[in-house]
Amino acid sequence: MLYAIGDPHLHFSVPLSLPMETSSPLWRDHEERFREGWLHTVTEEDTVVVCGDISFGRNEQQCRRDFDFLAALPGRKILLRGNHDNYWDVKKTEKLNERWKGTFSFLQNNHFSYGSVALVGTKGYAWEGKDTPEHAEMLVEREAERLEMSFQSAAREGFSRFIVFLHFPPTNYTQRTSIFCRMAEKWGAEQVIYAHCHGRHRFDDSIRGMYKGIRYTLVSGDCLNWRPFRVL
Ligand SMILES: [Fe+2]
Repeated sequence: MLYAIGDPHLHFSVPLSLPMETSSPLWRDHEERFREGWLHTVTEEDTVVVCGDISFGRNEQQCRRDFDFLAALPGRKILLRGNHDNYWDVKKTEKLNERWKGTFSFLQNNHFSYGSVALVGTKGYAWEGKDTPEHAEMLVEREAERLEMSFQSAAREGFSRFIVFLHFPPTNYTQRTSIFCRMAEKWGAEQVIYAHCHGRHRFDDSIRGMYKGIRYTLVSGDCLNWRPFRVL
């Protein structure tokens, strides 16, 4: 089976000034609930795409305990960058893939496969009112280029079935579509999976369900009550 879940927000080595746990009851003991949800669902034969905001560590040393926690769980693990994954320099993705070979696969400007389906993705971006419009436009363009690279990497290897993974939702609450949706449509993607939206008031910020023949699913951990979502 192929599963997805986002936002474990692990920080075993990094103290946070405002721990996730205080923000909402949805986050109480979330590391343990994430682990239990995974253990109840995933077997060694399964694949899980962890859709970003994996660790608050700023470098691999600070991520070590978070990575060990994740590595100890069953199944093949494909990781996606979130807005908090500061240890992950895009230009060094290949190095991360070399160093963690056999433990994690880092999805960025590349693709992985699940049977005959290509798993493509990037962090994405949806404006939340924090960036200037110019900066937001630059971030969208850059992320769209990265997603295109991921699609092309899969197409070069002959894949024609695609599932898109984003950390950010493909649209914000003011938008009905975006460049990420149009790319998914152009390439004939079957599903778009995204995370990042936390708390019940944010769960409907973006597209959910079928839209233009593509199934959109929010897989932030708190939205899933910490049970990985079965993609295929
Ligand atoms: Fe996020």
